Amino acid sequence: MASPSSFSKAILTLACVVLLIGGTSAQLSIFYYTETCPDLFPTVKSIVQEAIAKEARMGASLLRLFFHDCFVNGCDGSNLLDDTPTFTGEKNAAPNRNSLRGFDVVDQIKSAVEEVCPSIVSCADLLAIISRDAVEILGGPGWDVKLGRRDARTASQAAANVSIPPPTNNLSALISGFQNHGLSQQDLVALYGAHTVGQARCTNFRARIYNESNIDSSFAQEMKSNCPSVTGVGDNNLDGLDYQSATSFDNTYYVNLMRKRGLLHSDQQLFNGGSTDSLIRTYAQSQDTFFKDFAASMINMGDIKPLTGSNGEIRKNCRRVN
Ligand code: HEM
Ligand SMILES: *[C@@H]1O[C@H](CO)[C@@H](O)[C@H](O)[C@H]1NC(C)=O
Ligand SMILES: *[C@@H]1O[C@H](CO)[C@@H](O)[C@H](O)[C@H]1NC(C)=O
Ligand SMILES: *[C@@H]1O[C@H](CO)[C@@H](O)[C@H](O)[C@H]1NC(C)=O
Repeated sequence: MASPSSFSKAILTLACVVLLIGGTSAQLSIFYYTETCPDLFPTVKSIVQEAIAKEARMGASLLRLFFHDCFVNGCDGSNLLDDTPTFTGEKNAAPNRNSLRGFDVVDQIKSAVEEVCPSIVSCADLLAIISRDAVEILGGPGWDVKLGRRDARTASQAAANVSIPPPTNNLSALISGFQNHGLSQQDLVALYGAHTVGQARCTNFRARIYNESNIDSSFAQEMKSNCPSVTGVGDNNLDGLDYQSATSFDNTYYVNLMRKRGLLHSDQQLFNGGSTDSLIRTYAQSQDTFFKDFAASMINMGDIKPLTGSNGEIRKNCRRVN
């Protein structure tokens, strides 16, 4: 029979193991809703599919929602909360205002999921599932989504202003911006491949097409036709982030960077003679490698500071706290 002291040592060890497991995002699990919401995945996917069939760009917009959630105090659905007279959310923060979109589609998905399993699935988890589905539907890779995040009861416009990197960043600022969230240089380059889909506004690329030298001149010329040089004129005019391929999820974004056809200043920073050039070449050569790394990095991004246990809540409506 064990002595009292070795017995208490065993208890202590067990307690430590439980604490260790409980204290990390290891509690996110791909099986989190298997029992409690078996229809979750098909319910989400069919609405994402419909929304993209109606407007191809919507897939990109939905994917970006997850990034802008995770980079502001973790993946907790904070960017879905509406402003009210007594509450300032993140929707009007500098990187989001007049730019972030897809909220109506998220509402539609949330309502459908509430029908099949009320008050079970968080808005934060929905963004993770939606972005995976959007990427797959646009032609990209699939992956198993880790789940079990809960929703924030707060949001921070101030944090949204400073935590999401602006398109004026140089390479070292981009790298340290990702490092601040525990993401590597490889995560940066792989996740940036999300710009293989979607659109940007003239106000975000005007300075690049008129004033930069590391840009293909015929590409710049073409972009100028839809983005006048004068500030305030045509600011919201759109062009594809991935020249001539902005609705399919593929590796042409990296091929375009190698040809100096990055639309944003920050895009072209990834291929400008610096430490990320070689990875850009790798992804431009191998779509398979890009897809594999993108999927892994999306999982890494989804692990940023989730609310679990009794923290946060399961919102009934993604636009407001319960
Ligand atoms: C550090 C890096 C990043 C910067 C500086 C950046 C910047 C931007 C900017 C300026 C736009 C255009 C917004 C507008 O003009 O309204 C944009 C669009 C977009 N971004 Fe990023 N981004 C970054 C990383 C990411 C990541 C990591 C993802 C996703 C994993 C992402 C996904 C998207 C998508 C899909 C769009 C198009 C959205 C649409 O068409 O509605 N971006 N990004
Ligand atoms: C965030 O940025 C916007 C736009 O630049 C600004 O109007 C707002 O005051 C900022 N909010 C905070 C809390 O810093
Ligand atoms: C990059 O930008 C940061 C701040 O935005 C600046 O301090 C740094 O000098 C810049 N680095 C290079 C190599 O231009
Ligand atoms: C280009 O740079 C010049 C000189 O710095 C500046 O005056 C001008 O406003 C810039 N043009 C654009 C479109 O950014």
